[in-house]
Amino acid sequence: MPRMRLDKLLAHLNCGSRKEVQAMIRAGRVQVNGTVERDPAAKVDSDSAQVMLDGQAQRYQAQRYYMLNKPAGVITASRDARHDTVLDLFPEEMRRGLFAVGRLDKDTEGLLIVTDDGALSHALMSPSRHVYKVYEAVVEGTLLPEAETRFETGLTLKDGTVCLPARLERLAVGGEQRVRVTLREGKYHQVKRMIAAVGGVVVQLRRVQLGGLRLDPALTEGAFRALTERELELLQQPARESI
Ligand code: URA
Repeated sequence: MPRMRLDKLLAHLNCGSRKEVQAMIRAGRVQVNGTVERDPAAKVDSDSAQVMLDGQAQRYQAQRYYMLNKPAGVITASRDARHDTVLDLFPEEMRRGLFAVGRLDKDTEGLLIVTDDGALSHALMSPSRHVYKVYEAVVEGTLLPEAETRFETGLTLKDGTVCLPARLERLAVGGEQRVRVTLREGKYHQVKRMIAAVGGVVVQLRRVQLGGLRLDPALTEGAFRALTERELELLQQPARESI
């Protein structure tokens, strides 16, 4: 039977930091199998123990993974005094422990992963993993004829920053100029700055893919849903083709 210290178990259950849960235990707020337990070091069976905090049952929850269709106008942060955040799009009782993987600008829309899995977040954001990010943008201005080649060979931004090879595709033009940009890194305002370096201005930006995972077209702006097991695998799928 997996036995674990009570304070460690409560911290794993996102009830607070190790220090905070120790204070809760000492204050008599925690019951194990129906009896108040005041010793943070008490060993409990993490699979079967019934642990209550302030009368509320706490149980192990598998880690949570959501796909959010981020609307423009909300910031990618957990909490902010002045702005609505992506976590405000989740019901309050779901928010504890959740955070966004990586960052989209306030005016960027589209695919954002929200999870409580720090290891996954770290792996996806690690520069050495080169996880693909695919964006679609509405662009104004006249893009240089050699824009695609400049993206492919590793573009230098106006401030001298050198980018890894990326892909620029001009999509069928209707009334507006649309492009698709595929990157394998995530520098600050990268798409906007790359497009600026080839003569354009991004007026609308949407992330449509991360790793092998595409944004579900059925997900309306501001809506989220849990990832399926298959989608979680796709997200972590290493890049196969080179840009
Ligand atoms: N590139 C940008 O310029 N902004 C984003 O939000 C994401 C990528």
